Amino acid sequence: MTTRTVFLYKFLLKPDKIGSITPSSSFLTKRMLENLPWDKIDTIVELGAGTGVFTDFIAANKKESCRVVVLEEDPEMRKNLRSNHPTFLYGAKAEKLDWLLQRYDLPQVDCIISGLPFATFSESLREEIMMAVHRSLKPDGIFLAFQYSLQMKATLQRYFSELKASFVPLNIPPAFVYRCTTKKTSICN
Ligand SMILES: C[S@@+](CC[C@H](N)C(=O)[O-])C[C@H]1O[C@@H](n2cnc3c(N)ncnc32)[C@H](O)[C@@H]1O
Repeated sequence: MTTRTVFLYKFLLKPDKIGSITPSSSFLTKRMLENLPWDKIDTIVELGAGTGVFTDFIAANKKESCRVVVLEEDPEMRKNLRSNHPTFLYGAKAEKLDWLLQRYDLPQVDCIISGLPFATFSESLREEIMMAVHRSLKPDGIFLAFQYSLQMKATLQRYFSELKASFVPLNIPPAFVYRCTTKKTSICN
């Protein structure tokens, strides 16, 4: 099965968990990741990696010493990600992020990338994940997320003092990218 077929099959089984019928486009991947200060990122986390479009980009662009932690709830997708990127660290649930980072003995991280379909989550799960993200980021860290609507904007504004949103039409469905920081420092472009 191709990655697109796997994705569609998973969506049909669990639409609220997968959130879209196809992986993110190369346009969305670039908008999310290409302007990150890769030379300054020592630890990066990806939430909801799916079939790994963002994971592959991280692998190709990170500096050699950068540690990568990938969280994907679906066991089969996680197994494929692990086989494609065996040196990365893995976990299942985004809401357990800070617990997992402690287990790996990692300090707070520089950057967290989210592919999670927040809009289909309950409010309590959304808050649980955002609290875990906030606790796990360095004070000058970057949180990047894409969504198919502006529904998450108010929630993100409660957690971050700076938020930039941009629109990517060439994706199925078209998406908004949020780049969030708590304050401006040298790590932010
Ligand atoms: C919209 S897909 C994004 C996949 C990929 N990042 C992309 O852009 O193509 C969302 C992914 O989040 C995963 N997911 C959903 N809830 C999760 C959770 N609580 N913790 C970790 N992963 C989760 C799903 O299994 C799915 O693979």
